[in-house]
Amino acid sequence: MSETTIQRAADRAVHPVTETVLATLSGCGDARLKEIMWALIRHVHAFAEEVQLTGDEWRRGIDFLTQTGKKCDGIRQEFILLSDTLGLSIMLDAIHRKQDVTESAPTENSLLGPFYREGAHDEAYGANIARTEGEPALFRGRLIDETGKPVPNALIEVWETANNGMYEGQDPDQPESNLRGRFRSGPDGEYAFRSIKPTPYPIPTDGPVGRMLLAVGRHPMRPAHVHFLIQAPGYETITTALFSSDDPYVESDAVFGVKSSLVVEYVKNESAADAKEWDLPNPFFDVQRDFVLVRSQEAAR
Ligand code: BEZ
Ligand code: FE
Repeated sequence: MSETTIQRAADRAVHPVTETVLATLSGCGDARLKEIMWALIRHVHAFAEEVQLTGDEWRRGIDFLTQTGKKCDGIRQEFILLSDTLGLSIMLDAIHRKQDVTESAPTENSLLGPFYREGAHDEAYGANIARTEGEPALFRGRLIDETGKPVPNALIEVWETANNGMYEGQDPDQPESNLRGRFRSGPDGEYAFRSIKPTPYPIPTDGPVGRMLLAVGRHPMRPAHVHFLIQAPGYETITTALFSSDDPYVESDAVFGVKSSLVVEYVKNESAADAKEWDLPNPFFDVQRDFVLVRSQEAAR
């Protein structure tokens, strides 16, 4: 930001129009709603003033929001995509989850994304969820709490894209339940499943958000990842993902969901005995990763 811009912002007093609009909130009996509306009005007015927004630009903005709304239905949610691409979704997570990132720290969250589907099949420990081609990978580790105690019988839902960059729910050509499944952690908190190494893929670009990315010179790619939704009674739910360290987009995720603690290495396992034990070709990718759950507020009381 240039010094002139900073000076202009500092000099700016609340505009009389802003004052008039803020005054209309005096009768609002809901303190939180009043706080939110107050800040919203101040910020949108300041935004219009800062960029000296023209009537034509505002009409284009309204048109953009209208198109965004028209692209929302039971399956597609373009407003969430807008929030994701503007970094607002991950900003909320950053505001509300302040924690140190250490080895025993709780696993960080990432975005759920629009492709989560309820009703995944229950799978046994070690099951293979890949019904389409890919580089074989084994994912394994333990669910533990912050003291290192195992968390048994937790529900672990996983989903990832096929090699064509599409989730099963987006692609009628994929077999039912491809690359998604529901597992339970074992008595020692252990989990394992076989799948494939994920590939990077573009977020949906056939709507106004895709056009916005293009207009501002941004790419729509997400680095390769596997989603995890982990639920256990008495613990906070973890909505997260594991990202591949060797991915070309790991530093420039279109929706800002990557956190360094969630980047994992796909280690090439060349052990013939391991390949035999897991019924995988030799070599295969081996991803070993624990998840650290936090006791929920209610359970802690
Ligand atoms: C996903 O990872 O599935 C995703 C997340 C945010 C926006 C689009 C896709
Ligand atoms: Fe995804």
